[in-house]
Amino acid sequence: MIRKLANNVYFVGAIDWDRKLFDELIPLPNGTTYNSYLVKGQEKIALIDTVDPKKEEEFFNNLDKLNIGKIDYVVSNHAEQDHSGLIGKVVEKYGAKVVTNEKCAEFLKTHVHVEDDDIRIIKDGEELDLGEKTLKFVFTPWVHWPETMVTYLKEDKILFSCDLFGSHYATSEIEQNGGEKLLEMAKRYYAEIMMPFRNIIKKNIEKIEKLEIEKIAPSHGPVYPNPRFILNEYKKWISDNVENEVVILYVSMHESTKKMIEYLTDKLMDEGLSVKLHNIVNSDIGEIAVDLVDASTVVIGTPMVLAGVHPLMAGAIYLVNALRPKTKYLALVGSYGWGGRFIDEIKEMTKNLKAEIFEPVVVKGLISKKDYKKLDNLVNEIIKRNKD
Ligand code: FEO
Repeated sequence: MIRKLANNVYFVGAIDWDRKLFDELIPLPNGTTYNSYLVKGQEKIALIDTVDPKKEEEFFNNLDKLNIGKIDYVVSNHAEQDHSGLIGKVVEKYGAKVVTNEKCAEFLKTHVHVEDDDIRIIKDGEELDLGEKTLKFVFTPWVHWPETMVTYLKEDKILFSCDLFGSHYATSEIEQNGGEKLLEMAKRYYAEIMMPFRNIIKKNIEKIEKLEIEKIAPSHGPVYPNPRFILNEYKKWISDNVENEVVILYVSMHESTKKMIEYLTDKLMDEGLSVKLHNIVNSDIGEIAVDLVDASTVVIGTPMVLAGVHPLMAGAIYLVNALRPKTKYLALVGSYGWGGRFIDEIKEMTKNLKAEIFEPVVVKGLISKKDYKKLDNLVNEIIKRNKD
């Protein structure tokens, strides 16, 4: 598919309608796209990123449709293979020089075996003149790898932002002004990919906002002809502000932990708190990640297995910790059959969260009257912290 974004600027990427999983981890309810862009100057032609190698045929067909015989430069904003995987073939077929930063060049050599001689290293802020089209390179590290950068097309005021502001969203409408669906997909992408780098994204956005931007063209999902839409949303997500929301993650073996979670959930809802509950046995981890973006409080409910935290919950906690949400309060509840030390384990596993941990409620077997009192106390603590 080809789409014209501006005079002599084209989308030449590929849509992966039925991809179900990314990184063998992240569910893709709406597939994804791999966006590559072609910029034709009066003297030189540049390609910005390529596509996932499994879309090789579609990608080269797109370039054929535009009758591209020579490409002078292939800009690599990010070395991950869903964007860099066909750079070697572009060099081979069109004689292109790879234009990128030093760190990315290092990765391209090891990850996709680009040759040293085929690379031109650029510095932060450097410009490349294509003839009435000028590319400016702005380094934006850690969104979400250390080498990531964005490319700005000065004349058309288009920012090619690579993964930043992206969405795993296969759609034929390659430009979208906003809307609920795009917001949902972009937030999901942020939660899964960008959230751990929230603080560095703040600095990168400050840098990006010095540019006059009329369109943001990311490497996944639709292009934003209204950049404020996504910039404003990102500013909310990366801010230190939290919503009075409680995300509950639980697993239960013999209904004991489940009873505790149900009791706690009802009480919190009775107090008017927003609760998002996931039984992690059949939850979509993308939905959990989205719910973590704004929530003030996370509740973890788990039984003990072989003297430790339930292995499924251990996986979920590992993910929560790695995503580094801005959670302020953490509550732990659980049950056990014969013994163990899962609370210490969970505390150890959630160190990235910097959250205040309430007094855990742990019961042996089924919950009893005195334990309900402890749950009431926990509920009161959660409510107190979420009533500001
Ligand atoms: Fe879309 Fe980080 O690759």
